[in-house]
Amino acid sequence: MSLLKHLGIKHPIFLAPMAGVSTPELAAEVSNQGGLGALGLGASTVSSARDQILKTQALTDQPFQVNFFCHQPAVLDPHKAQQWIDYLKPQFNTYGAMPPAQLNCIYPSFLDNDDFLQLILETRPQAVSFHFGIPHAHQILALKSAGILTMVSATNLAEALAIEAAGIDIIIAQGIEAGGHRGIFNESFDSSVRTADLVQLFKQHCQLPIVAAGGIMSGQQAKGLLNLGADGVQLGTAFVQCKSSNANGAYRKALFDQPITQITASISGRPARGLINHWHMDIDTPDRPSVPAYPYAYDIGKQLHAAASQQGDHGFGAFWAGSNVAQIRELEAADLINQLVLEMNFA
Ligand SMILES: Cc1cc2nc3c(=O)[nH]c(=O)nc-3n(C[C@H](O)[C@H](O)[C@H](O)COP(=O)(O)O)c2cc1C
Repeated sequence: MSLLKHLGIKHPIFLAPMAGVSTPELAAEVSNQGGLGALGLGASTVSSARDQILKTQALTDQPFQVNFFCHQPAVLDPHKAQQWIDYLKPQFNTYGAMPPAQLNCIYPSFLDNDDFLQLILETRPQAVSFHFGIPHAHQILALKSAGILTMVSATNLAEALAIEAAGIDIIIAQGIEAGGHRGIFNESFDSSVRTADLVQLFKQHCQLPIVAAGGIMSGQQAKGLLNLGADGVQLGTAFVQCKSSNANGAYRKALFDQPITQITASISGRPARGLINHWHMDIDTPDRPSVPAYPYAYDIGKQLHAAASQQGDHGFGAFWAGSNVAQIRELEAADLINQLVLEMNFA
């Protein structure tokens, strides 16, 4: 069966799940226009995740997907944590603030939390995707038994083969161009493969449907990846300027004013691509100590951003964006889908 029939969607266009940027409105607009809407729930509590799913279901009767993080539970090295707090202290002081005394684990992994699994089984979205790794076998079995499609991001061939072997339904091929966190399973190893190369690699070696993600901003680019063997495309950055996204004014302005990206692990403890700002220029200096594990580093990163923004400096924001962000358009989500479809048809 084709990917479109499997998911019950009209166009092979997936909205990327984007924790902090996704909204029920954005997800529903994409789904109502024939794409696959998405909710990024990796940073949500169970109760907020439930509210977002129910709200999306109230706004659309079309399929959409929800997304969680499957990072391996990290053990915090107290020495590394203290070094990092000390390193960031002068930055806090610049904004008249003090760093926290300790770092907390702000996001539980889906691997550790079957409450999220129960929520999915209860609310029954069409599909669920995972970033940073593969869920446990009992979780995959429960989802499959409930008829919910499963998808996992892969950034290299070894990850894709592990996804296939685990019985997942769809591979998201996340290229190095992608905005946001790298989906790498091992946080200290990144093969850095381009989206087009990943699609061809997976097409050669895997049987599962492939959804290409990373650097796709136009229908022509999407068509190019479909021609290489992708069954669908997933776009994140392209939708951040949509009115119904949760991006704030500073983020939206930076997307237009400084559309250049770089990858850093300093913000969260895991490498992620975003607009170049203080993190890349002032924190990632050659004498930077090593960053504590994800999501502990994110705890202090968010606090530094809050302290700086209170003083009007938005340069510590986690303004995730893909490498083709300069091609971003300011359109309503439904119009963006229509435009992408038009461009795909004439490419
Ligand atoms: C603002 C933003 C937030 C993101 N958050 C998530 C997330 O919560 N879960 C996830 O699986 N991927 C996340 N991603 C990565 C996307 O799934 C996708 O790989 C990426 O957007 C594709 O590249 P593009 O941004 O160039 O379209 C995020 C991307 C962006 C831009």
